[in-house]
Amino acid sequence: GAPVEVNISKIEPGQLIRVAWRGKPVWVVRRTKEILTNLATLDSQLRDPASAEEQQPSYAQNAVRSINPEYFIAVGLCTHLGCSPTYLPDTFSEQVEGVPSGFYCPCHGSKFDLAGRVFQGVPAPLNLVVPPHQYIDEGLVIIG
Ligand code: FES
Repeated sequence: GAPVEVNISKIEPGQLIRVAWRGKPVWVVRRTKEILTNLATLDSQLRDPASAEEQQPSYAQNAVRSINPEYFIAVGLCTHLGCSPTYLPDTFSEQVEGVPSGFYCPCHGSKFDLAGRVFQGVPAPLNLVVPPHQYIDEGLVIIG
């Protein structure tokens, strides 16, 4: 499949946009400072907080799993059996107390934070996959 160019300059704070890449949904979420602060508190609740299991390119092998912390880019498919998790920007705390936003998979209840890291005690075995990508400039990303 061909690489896909994504204009991220118009994404509002907290907003998620979807693009298609190689027949898969890819998400881009613009994260706020509050979201990033919250992510830094979650390690003890996550299965693989440091993403030691290589579900990402090396340039995203960091705590927020991205090149630019403000933008999270991931393949929008659950690592359990491939359903597409739901983005819950406001009501995720009903799934995990104290965590305002995240992703919830309706198929078997897997839960992921806004770095795509899987919470403990759910069926998904791995964090969400970060696809290969690069920034052309501040507002333009190439996926693939
Ligand atoms: Fe997501 Fe099973 S496919 S929890």
